Parts: sequence; C-alpha cells; structure tokens
Amino acid sequence: MVQKITVVGAGNVGATTAQRLAEKELARTVVMVDVAEGIPQGKGLDQWESAPIEGFDSHIIGTNSYDETAESDIIVITAGIARKPGMSRDDLLNTNAGIVKQVSEQVKKTSPNAILIIVSNPLDVMAYVALKTTGFPRERVIGMAGVLDTARYRAFLAEAADVSVRDIQAMVLGGHGDTMVPLISCTSVSGIPITQLISKEKLDAIVARTRTGGGEIVKHLKTGSAYYAPSSAAVQMCEAVAKDQKRILPCAAWLQGEYGLRDLYLGVPCKLGRSGLEKIYEVELTADERKALEMSAEAVREPMRAVTL
Ligand code: APR
Repeated sequence: MVQKITVVGAGNVGATTAQRLAEKELARTVVMVDVAEGIPQGKGLDQWESAPIEGFDSHIIGTNSYDETAESDIIVITAGIARKPGMSRDDLLNTNAGIVKQVSEQVKKTSPNAILIIVSNPLDVMAYVALKTTGFPRERVIGMAGVLDTARYRAFLAEAADVSVRDIQAMVLGGHGDTMVPLISCTSVSGIPITQLISKEKLDAIVARTRTGGGEIVKHLKTGSAYYAPSSAAVQMCEAVAKDQKRILPCAAWLQGEYGLRDLYLGVPCKLGRSGLEKIYEVELTADERKALEMSAEAVREPMRAVTL
C-alpha cells in the first residue's frame, strides 16, 4: 500500500478506477480531482460510504483542488472528453491535449515525485504531452493501453477456445488505435501455442475485432466510451507499481531506440515496479509483426506532429 493515489477526472473511467483502487486497498488515501463542481465530492463520498460494506480501509475523497492531491505517489490521468459514435481517438486530440497539459502543469507543482499513468485519449499522444509538460523522466510517465488491448484480445480468445481467460497469455503492442499489433507469436493457452488451438481464419477475425474493440463499445453505448475494462487495466498498472511487483505488462513507453524507434510513445513490454517503468523488453518479432509495429509507430507520429505544446 502506498500513501496516496490521485485519479484526475471523476468521470466514468476515473470514478471506476478510484473505486477499484480503494477496494484493492492500494493506497491509504485515494483522491479524485475534477473541474466539475460537486461531482468528485459526491462520487467520492458515495464510494467512501461503500467502505463499511465492502470492507476496505482506503479513504476516498473528491475535490476540485490540487491541494489535497499533494505528494501523491501515483497519479492516474483520465481527464478529458470521451469518444462518441463515428469518432476516432484522434478526433479528441486538441481538446484533450489542452486538458492533459493543464493537468500536467498542476501535477508537476503539487506532486513532483509522482509516477503518472496516462489514460486520456488519444493515449500515445497524451502521454507525450504529459512527459513534455512535466519534464518528468520516462520512467515516471507511462501510458495505459496495452493492458486493455491485451485484455480484450484475451477475452475474445478465451471465448473462441472455450477456456478460462486466466490461461490465455498474450501481448498486444503498438499504438492504441486500429494499427495495434496483437503478437500471435507470443499468444498461448497455458503454454500451448494458440495456432494449435484456433484456426488461422478465427485468429485473424479476433485480431481484427481487438483492433476495433474500443469502437465496438462506443457503438453500443452511443453516449461515451468504455470504462470497466480501461479502469481495470489502469488499476493493474497501479498495483504493479504500488506493490513493487515487477510485472511485465504491455504499456505505452517513451522509446529511445528500442525496436529501432525513438522519440515517441508506443506499446511495448515493460517491467513495472515501485520506481515506475523499470525495463523495456525487446522481444523477437516476426518480419510481419515488425512491419506492423513500424506502421503503428507512423500512425502515432502523425497526431504527435499535429499537437501544440
Ligand atoms: N481537469 C480535471 N478533470 C477534467 C478536466 C480538467 N481540466 N477537464 C475535464 N475533466 C473531467 C470532466 O469533468 C469529466 O468528469 O474529465 C471527466 C471525463 O469523464 P467522462 O466524460 O465520463 O469520460 P471517460 O469515459 O471517463 O473518459 C475519459 O479516458 O479512456 C479515456 O477516451 C477516454 O479521453 C477519455 C478519458
């Protein structure tokens, strides 16, 4: 357990994240901060009142001020607008860049030693905005996307193979968009290569569905985007940091030559521990996977160039 985790944004993703963090008792205090007056206070109080029933000792508070967030160990940034049907994540670019920049400036002042986990979309570019605005080292600014994309992929695979989700090992790399790269070469069911259990046709369909997994939810919801699985993914990353677990999870990291790529955020296998991003693993990719990763990098660079810092 760490002393304080702050969640910026008390909307669907933020509030669900805060609740999950408290239920897992990952911090003594969970703070939700949002610009909307009354929303973080009301949700925070409601959540805290669930503590006696759920049996957790983490205290949750909601606020409009960064004073209460001071000296946070971890900060999860979910502030920003969400997608509606017909929108791509890149359509959120300018609005959310302004919001993430403003949030990062505050965070830099009040929690200069925090580890940031970025969730706002378009994810890879928002992580870049947070990195540049705070000036924090890359070890402390990590993007949440790969864990979510991998969870979607694993859920679809478990259904298709009719086995437990727990037994599916997999990794989705690349940008958090339609060019993401599910690694079939690293996908197995309790060590059995997935290609021995699921036909190529079915696998291709699952890969395609994973790539548009977020859009599939937006189409159903119509008024917003996914939040249950995204908050679970953010909390898994927080847990790895708070408990110094040294877990290897696919996260968006600021690449400095890894995979032959530099100066951009991209989903790669990362070791997460108490100091944040502790190592990036360079796994061997097939020629097709490498090509797909490079294409994904190009798709991330485009909105990166468009953003004004
Ligand atoms: N500071 C703090 N909070 C802010 C700010 C800001 N500058 N600007 C907006 N917010 C808050 C809003 O008031 C709202 O409560 O961010 C919250 C966003 O909540 P939702 O609209 O419910 O959106 P949500 O589904 O939580 O998604 C948030 O996460 O997954 C991504 O693509 C998604 O970018 C989106 C973000």
